[in-house]
Amino acid sequence: MRFTNAVLVAAATGSAAAAPDQPTSPQLGARQAASTITVDLGKTYQRMDGFGFSLAFQRANLITNMSDKIKQRELLDLLFNRTTGAGFSIVRNGIGSTPNSNSDYMNTIAPTNPGGPKAEPKYQWDGKDSGQLWVSQQAVNLYGVKTIYANAWSAPGYMKTNGRDTNGGNLCGVPGASCSSGDWRQAYANYLVAYVRFYAEAGVNVTHLGFLNEPDYSTSYASMQSNGNQAADFIKVLSPTIEAAGLGAQVGITCCDSMSWSNQGSMAGQIRSAGAEGMLKAVTSHTYSGGAGGAISGRAPVWMSEQCDLNGQWSTGWYSNGGAGEGLTWANNIYSAVVNNNVSGYLYWEGVQWPNPNTNEKLIRVDNSTNSYEVARRLWAFANWSRYVRPGAVRVGASVGGNGVRTAAFRNEDGTVAVIAISSGGSAANVNVQISGGGGVKAAAVQAFVSDNTRNCAATAATLGDDGTISGSVAARSITTFFILPAAAGGAR
Ligand SMILES: *[C@@H]1O[C@H](CO)[C@@H](O)[C@H](O)[C@H]1NC(C)=O
Ligand SMILES: *[C@@H]1O[C@H](CO)[C@@H](O)[C@H](O)[C@H]1NC(C)=O
Ligand SMILES: *[C@@H]1O[C@H](CO)[C@@H](O)[C@H](O)[C@H]1NC(C)=O
Ligand SMILES: *[C@@H]1O[C@H](CO)[C@@H](O)[C@H](O)[C@H]1NC(C)=O
Ligand SMILES: *[C@@H]1O[C@H](CO)[C@@H](O)[C@H](O)[C@H]1NC(C)=O
Ligand SMILES: *[C@@H]1O[C@H](CO)[C@@H](O)[C@H](O)[C@H]1NC(C)=O
Repeated sequence: MRFTNAVLVAAATGSAAAAPDQPTSPQLGARQAASTITVDLGKTYQRMDGFGFSLAFQRANLITNMSDKIKQRELLDLLFNRTTGAGFSIVRNGIGSTPNSNSDYMNTIAPTNPGGPKAEPKYQWDGKDSGQLWVSQQAVNLYGVKTIYANAWSAPGYMKTNGRDTNGGNLCGVPGASCSSGDWRQAYANYLVAYVRFYAEAGVNVTHLGFLNEPDYSTSYASMQSNGNQAADFIKVLSPTIEAAGLGAQVGITCCDSMSWSNQGSMAGQIRSAGAEGMLKAVTSHTYSGGAGGAISGRAPVWMSEQCDLNGQWSTGWYSNGGAGEGLTWANNIYSAVVNNNVSGYLYWEGVQWPNPNTNEKLIRVDNSTNSYEVARRLWAFANWSRYVRPGAVRVGASVGGNGVRTAAFRNEDGTVAVIAISSGGSAANVNVQISGGGGVKAAAVQAFVSDNTRNCAATAATLGDDGTISGSVAARSITTFFILPAAAGGAR
């Protein structure tokens, strides 16, 4: 979806006021009368799980193998640091299904058929997981990331109707998929739990576990098909397997990472009808073959778990013509998912990738032949959300009069308030932020940050008046976040 307006994200916090004496942008020249953003803490919507990306298909190795350790740390900071980077809070890893690591394949922990679904499996843990384990360990240990999503694109080939992990096929044993080799549902559930255990032994708690990726798409790389009834059938095997392993408090099941939002809505409905909805921790969907046209109804939080611009040439810009790879476009994409489609988690496709293909599949382009990298401003669009809208934040009411700025607001678990404003207009808009409802918040300080053509989540001016009103400006075609620190929070973040 393309917005013609601005989106504004503001946050309220309680620490010392952010440098109101900072120079304002030259873009603020064309001032308009201030309009008021009203934040209503008494009106609550979904709880946020966070923002993230994937490093599947060996992209993690671009970080893990990086021989220049300073650059390696810079890449980690760009992705996870809440001061200097995007502050991502979710990592989506691919659970490999391929017997080898040729090309960019993800190798499986069970490459050989043990002789049938009841035979003792032969797990082979290589301690690398295509580079994903090391990056996950850094995310958890250095940056405090708590949400690790492990997602299988397919079961190993010998568990499937087509005998290989590529080109679709079904898991043997789900309704409509019988195999001469037997019923592999329990073996697949055991295998997924074994993967979670290998991570736990390495100090990383997988919190979300997906057993399907794009089940409405059959392709030459790892893929496995499923409808909602088949998914529900397997969920009823996997859920008790997780419980029996004593992992029920740590990890929950996601489903189904469909290609399209509408297919995911259908699958979610079938899972509900089959009585398995209560076993889901999150409903996950991509939007490649059909975008979101509203909330997917149900009890579980919904994640837009993968999307990118696959078609455009690599572009790092913020705004030139509203192109699919531009930063401002992604600030708006996130806005649409969170505000219009009830999304609790929003994940880009790859965090890093090689220069080839020269597309916008990634946020950071890493050339491992020269140890160099280039950052797309898409990353800074995510930063404006992810740094300030933290896991556990509850979206609250936000409305704005006049001037076409789009706004969303969130109350974090620590009491800070983030107000996000996006402006798609060509001139700056002055805004006031007022907070009401829900017991209110006595703002002790406000900080503001902006990303636009020249600034990457840079501090910008905002002032806190004696009456508690926050005044600031939303630059032309920018995302600006106001972060409000309540008096009691003492500046904790
Ligand atoms: C990373 O190192 C592994 C060996 O541990 C190698 O197989 C892989 O090709 C390397 N990948 C990159 C991107 O450097
Ligand atoms: C994030 O970046 C800041 C500024 O460079 C640095 O002080 C801090 O240590 C970094 N955080 C982590 C977890 O590395
Ligand atoms: C991982 O989960 C277990 C409970 O399953 C918990 O005891 C442990 O503290 C968690 N570890 C981390 C690093 O969060
Ligand atoms: C939004 O998602 C939550 C779960 O995160 C759910 O409880 C709520 O009913 C959903 N709202 C709408 C409008 O679908
Ligand atoms: C770069 O990555 C490719 C693909 O994984 C790998 O084959 C190659 O060995 C890597 N080059 C270096 C210098 O690590
Ligand atoms: C938010 O995005 C704007 C671009 O509109 C950028 O200038 C700003 O630095 C970003 N701020 C944060 C906190 O991410």
